[in-house]
Amino acid sequence: MADARPFHWEYTPDPVTREVFRIEGGVPLTGEVPISGSKNAALKMLAAATLTGERCRFTNVPEIEDVRVMAETLRDLGVVVDHPADNVYEVASGDVEWLFVPLEAAAKMRASFMLLGPLLSRFGRVIISNPGGDRIGRRPVDLHVEAMRTLGATIEYRNGYYFATAPGRLRGTEIRFPFVSVMGTENAMLAATLADGHTVIRPAAREPEVDDLIVFLRKMGAEVSRTYPDTIEVVGKRRLRGAEHHVVADRIEAGTFAIAGAVTGGQVTLTGAPCDQMTALLDVFARAGVDATCEGDRIQIDGRALGDRGFRACDIETAPYPGLATDLQSPTSVLLTQAEGTSHVHEAVFEDRLEWLSELRRMGARIDIADNHHATIHGRTPLRGADAEIGDLRAGASLILAALAADGESTIHGAHHVQRGYENIERKFTDLGARIARLEEGTDSTPS
Ligand code: EPU
Repeated sequence: MADARPFHWEYTPDPVTREVFRIEGGVPLTGEVPISGSKNAALKMLAAATLTGERCRFTNVPEIEDVRVMAETLRDLGVVVDHPADNVYEVASGDVEWLFVPLEAAAKMRASFMLLGPLLSRFGRVIISNPGGDRIGRRPVDLHVEAMRTLGATIEYRNGYYFATAPGRLRGTEIRFPFVSVMGTENAMLAATLADGHTVIRPAAREPEVDDLIVFLRKMGAEVSRTYPDTIEVVGKRRLRGAEHHVVADRIEAGTFAIAGAVTGGQVTLTGAPCDQMTALLDVFARAGVDATCEGDRIQIDGRALGDRGFRACDIETAPYPGLATDLQSPTSVLLTQAEGTSHVHEAVFEDRLEWLSELRRMGARIDIADNHHATIHGRTPLRGADAEIGDLRAGASLILAALAADGESTIHGAHHVQRGYENIERKFTDLGARIARLEEGTDSTPS
């Protein structure tokens, strides 16, 4: 074994450099912004590459912290991960020598749990940290674990780790989820590609990133198809081969920039945007009176109506795809602060995704949070610059949007959360005319 690192149960996170976004708001954003590759597709592709010993090559991989963490996690296992150029990653998993995914990886990123299915299926064993342990909050992975057991694995849980074994091959079977889970579907699907026999997964998540993963798996020689909208079927193979794939565009990043154009009353064109995957958000735009036009892979957002009459209040509810993505609930809530009247927000997917609204209130938004799933936004309220604290990735991006729309200067603390999932966010906003800078906490400077 090349690496004799200790088998550590506990882990003290490295201190993060505390950085802030300093934003001088009130500038209508104008210009073009290129949309990067999808975080939630790229992370799964990197995990899927461990299904083969041959080299896989990915282009259009976003340059974000989560991708770096996944690459580092793979390297720790003995996987060769090359990064020959910006947005290009190559993965060769010939010699995986350390079938152990530590708490260190799980604490940084829930998607590290995506290594369960492929490693277990290819090597017959893995020890993997629970990303849902008490130490980092309640994030269950029971559906993933049950899916592996249904495929014939034995899984024990001890000291915060899942010890999974499957001597011989996993066995194809029917996996019935009680409700839709994106990563649950993906983990089951990856495991099934090397299982013995036929697997049926339902209800299978319908997110476009799942379909992009299917495209990649088929290039690897896997027999995987979506046979009904909510059903994925897999016929297991003895081995898969290396493949090359261009990661699909990030519909959540696209939605974030589209809303940025609207709430600043600007004119923004997204290039390389996955218009056909954004129907639910475009429907909200139509109801709210945001002018959006799709042409091929370009979306033009004209937010100038904001200057005359504001947008129209509307009710939103998040749901699995093709519904409105939970990842777009927070940016859409910023939009609704600029809509005349009362809007209701129903966050139906996650339990802890409305908390950030209390930070948005600091900027002058009038919001009642009824419970973990329901809030009411009373518009239209002018937003004003303020100090706010980022709690998670999407809330962070949304606080940036609010600060860009606000009058005056804002300091948004906890910038590292946003670096996890948005490529060059401050540069992209600067290119649209925004006055935004990322600074070390405590630095005194106003963006020029
Ligand atoms: N759930 C369980 N048990 C499980 C798995 C999920 O109870 O074993 C619950 C979750 O707590 C949640 C619901 O099921 O209430 C749906 O969660 P899902 O499993 O679909 O979410 P996920 O796969 O963990 C992915 C994205 C999230 C995105 C959700 C929903 C990745 C890496 N993450 O998470 O993205 O919000 O699907 O679309 O793909 C983000 O990018 O900021 C992000 C959080």
